[in-house]
Amino acid sequence: MTILVTGGKGQVGQCFQQMADEYALWRFHFVDLDEIDITRRKSVFELIRSLRSLDMKWCINCAAYTAVDKAETEPAKVRQINVTGAKNLADACAEAGIPMIHLSTDYVYHNRQNTPFLENDPVSPKSVYARTKLAGDLAVLKANPKAMVVRTSWVYSPFGNNFVKTMLRLGAERPELKVVFDQIGTPTYAPDLASAILQIIGKIEAKEIQEAALRGIWHYSNEGVTSWYDFAKAIFEIKNMGCRVFPIETKDFPTPALRPPFSVLNKGKIKACFGLEIPHWRESLIKCLGELPT
Ligand SMILES: NC(=O)c1ccc[n+]([C@@H]2O[C@H](COP(=O)([O-])OP(=O)(O)OC[C@H]3O[C@@H](n4cnc5c(N)ncnc54)[C@H](OP(=O)(O)O)[C@@H]3O)[C@@H](O)[C@H]2O)c1
Repeated sequence: MTILVTGGKGQVGQCFQQMADEYALWRFHFVDLDEIDITRRKSVFELIRSLRSLDMKWCINCAAYTAVDKAETEPAKVRQINVTGAKNLADACAEAGIPMIHLSTDYVYHNRQNTPFLENDPVSPKSVYARTKLAGDLAVLKANPKAMVVRTSWVYSPFGNNFVKTMLRLGAERPELKVVFDQIGTPTYAPDLASAILQIIGKIEAKEIQEAALRGIWHYSNEGVTSWYDFAKAIFEIKNMGCRVFPIETKDFPTPALRPPFSVLNKGKIKACFGLEIPHWRESLIKCLGELPT
């Protein structure tokens, strides 16, 4: 069978690429913006129809507009990618009878709650990125009866741009850094996320779990809770770097897009349904740092 991965050159997409060899019985077909623009509906339908001959059974959508601050300046473009593009894929997969696993974000939860969010907790997106991701989730669920929306948080990996790589770069250049301590969440090591998704596909393909169970919203991040400040401290401790980190408040580090003060995700549902074991964020951070030069 073939699994289509869109956004294949992005951070999470590259983790799937790295993992593809471990799943030798499955074929992976990776595409990115240079091959297919998901906002072009006709091209999306043509791609998915053309993959039928390769026994395409799944689509994992990692394509998105993810520049959270820049998104504030070009909302129409962001909506086109995160809503229209996601819906195009969901519609084309629905036409082919194929399940679509769609990635989304913890930023849709932005209220005063301070206990880990369940999938049916109220959403309250407060940025262009978060609003368009939420609208994309709903459009995907409406378009495809076999859609699984996986909301994740604070993604990092050896690929692309992310907080861990930024801290390593700045920590090597500067003797001290100020990092916000009043945004609380959980980091997600992208290879753990990719592995969890492939385990889920494996269980459904092996008929251990019914395909119908997929439908709906799910949460995935690593285990544990931290702040960006504590996350930065951990990076420098593990890497034995001398950079000192000082906690600051979000109000002293204004950004164009608002971030939620608390967006810890409760993963009880995905763990119970698919029997997943999720590593603690620090354990996965150590693994990632082992792959990254200082
Ligand atoms: N990164 C995080 O911290 C985080 C946190 C929570 C949730 N998520 C979600 O996880 C998913 C994957 O994130 P990521 O970090 O892997 O993102 P990423 O590195 O930005 O990758 C997204 C990919 O999508 C491509 N793309 C953009 N517009 C496209 C279009 N119109 N058609 C086809 N491809 C297009 C991008 O290409 P270009 O680079 O050429 O634009 C890029 O390769 C996204 O849904 C994101 O919302 C991410």
